[in-house]
Amino acid sequence: MTDTLGVPTSRPSFRSGLRFGPQVASRVGADWVSEPYTRFELVPKSPTIGAEVVGVDLANLDDDTFADVHRALLEWKVLFFRNCGLDPEAHAALGARWGELEYHPFLANRNDHPVTVRFEKNDDTAGFENVWHSDVSWRAVPSLGSLLRAVEVPVAGGDTLWADMAAAYDCLPDDMKQRIEGLEAVHDWLDTFGALMSEEERSSTRQNFPASVHPVVRTHPETGRRTLYVNGIFTTEIVGVPADEGDRLLEYLCRQADYPEYQCRWTWQAGDLAIWDNRATQHYATSDYHPQRRVMERITVIGDRPF
Ligand SMILES: [Fe+2]
Repeated sequence: MTDTLGVPTSRPSFRSGLRFGPQVASRVGADWVSEPYTRFELVPKSPTIGAEVVGVDLANLDDDTFADVHRALLEWKVLFFRNCGLDPEAHAALGARWGELEYHPFLANRNDHPVTVRFEKNDDTAGFENVWHSDVSWRAVPSLGSLLRAVEVPVAGGDTLWADMAAAYDCLPDDMKQRIEGLEAVHDWLDTFGALMSEEERSSTRQNFPASVHPVVRTHPETGRRTLYVNGIFTTEIVGVPADEGDRLLEYLCRQADYPEYQCRWTWQAGDLAIWDNRATQHYATSDYHPQRRVMERITVIGDRPF
């Protein structure tokens, strides 16, 4: 079913039979050769995305085990480690195994560890991050991945969800895939982080952080999978499409992350670590635990320019 601009709506179509949501997608691309993991145990959290890694000492990761952790990250897109045993130094050192670490210009960083973003949530900061996104997609060179460590967690609530955006792309109708082929979209920080700034601060910060344009469908640089790369918080418009039509198209594409078939969910315990691939996923932090406190620390690894 489509609206007047030809954009599919979320209402099910009985004309195509009793199929309401997406069909099951595959976890990996057609070219991926699955090999067993012999250095640790992997416990899947959903059929396509998310696995808990059991039996790894993250503070003393030899090169072969790191290579397998990275392979598992490409295959499962999000990895979970219970009671990871990392302090802030070891957390950053682990992130640096993947590449150069990012300094986030807008979020609160630890004074003693400028690359560590500290999320300290209370009543005043309720309702941040409960929107699907890929970290720092507004950068010209966005993030490869993020490593989030739970410092203090609520008794209940505060789960994080991830969505497999390659599965989301795979399950788009063929005519939609054709329609978005080759399209690009603008990603910007102005409506989010910039909303808390004065006009002067916005324009001076703008000099250093212009909006970026990325493909609507990017190709994962390591797996080769096509992946939907627009998100509901940083993507502001689709280039070259009239605003009315573009807004609805963008809304439809962003809504794909909502399907539970593409998701996994993690209930945090203090000391847990999650590592995710920002090139393949989006995430959503539930904001259901206030006024309890939730303290998390994040290390973000710089990636590559999307293509
Ligand atoms: Fe995030």
